[in-house]
Amino acid sequence: MTTVEKIKAIEDEMAKTQKNKATEKHLGMLKAKIAKLKSELLKDANSSGGGAGVGFDVKKTGETIGFIGFPSVGKSTLLSKVTGTHSEAAAYEFTTLTTVPGVIRYKGARIQMLDLPGIIEGAKDGKGRGKQVIAVARSCDLIFIVLDVNKPLHHKKIIENELEGFGIRLNQSPPDILIKRKERGGINITNTVPLTKIDHDQIKAVLQEYRMNSCDIQLRCDANVDDLIDAIEIKNRKYIPAVYVLNKIDSFSIEELDLLYRIPDAVPISSGNEWNLDELLEVMWDKLKLVRVYTKPKGKLPDFTDPVVMRSDRCTVEDFCNKIHKSLVEDFRNALVYGRSVKHQPQYVGLSHVLQDEDVITILKK
Ligand SMILES: *[C@@H]1O[C@H](CO)[C@@H](O)[C@H](O)[C@H]1NC(C)=O
Ligand SMILES: *[C@@H]1O[C@H](CO)[C@@H](O)[C@H](O)[C@H]1NC(C)=O
Repeated sequence: MTTVEKIKAIEDEMAKTQKNKATEKHLGMLKAKIAKLKSELLKDANSSGGGAGVGFDVKKTGETIGFIGFPSVGKSTLLSKVTGTHSEAAAYEFTTLTTVPGVIRYKGARIQMLDLPGIIEGAKDGKGRGKQVIAVARSCDLIFIVLDVNKPLHHKKIIENELEGFGIRLNQSPPDILIKRKERGGINITNTVPLTKIDHDQIKAVLQEYRMNSCDIQLRCDANVDDLIDAIEIKNRKYIPAVYVLNKIDSFSIEELDLLYRIPDAVPISSGNEWNLDELLEVMWDKLKLVRVYTKPKGKLPDFTDPVVMRSDRCTVEDFCNKIHKSLVEDFRNALVYGRSVKHQPQYVGLSHVLQDEDVITILKK
């Protein structure tokens, strides 16, 4: 049996198993088995994913947004409209399988936009070039899921399931579960909140499936079996923000639009009519959580046209220095910062200071 067939067989068994107290443990174990097999598929995807191992032929510069959608939902029109108005570079071959229609510059940041074709036509089964697409999808900073509002909404679910299968978790954060493997001593379970979705027997069944017979596990959230498996498989998981781009709203009434806005993380648009693309870019910007820092050379005015762009989880002064030049940290004495991150304008700060969006910085050397 191939890995895909094995997964199918276990899924069939799960579908046939009645869900009740007596079968919970068994079902948890089956879920763990499937997760392990899916991770095997991901490994294959990695090793065959083109030169650099991540499927990138082109250097990743700046942030990357992947567009995913069924054929004829208007994805390519959307891509060309967005990149057309904000384009910085012409289209170029991204890999043999996909094209970067453009690099846009938005609020000073360079953002690559790329089409991820074929991802929902069974790419996770590890067929052909699908593997490469998965590797590229997993490296995106943000995913746009493009849907045609006139088509059944279960398309959303199909795409989500497909991405889940590649270990991608959309708009989620990793479960708050600490696992420490040990040589001996058995399984020691503690929890800081009451557990309503999983019991100790189920936790043990999953851990044993992973041959983790001795470990300290601390659950700090009301986790279910899937969360537990994600915590164990954390190296194979990618937590990526996503926006649901609801296209072709041209024929919708205001009342219907109102309903669309209730879908979390959704932006209704019409790519053909260029309706609401500005909001889409605003939401994109919020989701990317980028921090722009302007450099002010000593005795000169800051350069507001070319910020250093960092991710909000890695934006200390030290991160800033490393983005400029490796040796800068060694020569660093302190920095003078203007902006939201400091109380006094300006203020001297050290390497560990956390910068905020639109700060202005002067690095002072020893
Ligand atoms: C795939 O490769 C990347 C980079 O080489 C690595 O960080 C990641 O953990 C790998 N994933 C899997 C599932 O092997
Ligand atoms: C069980 O784990 C907790 C932390 O998760 C630890 O503080 C405690 O010492 C462990 N108990 C045993 C008996 O190993």
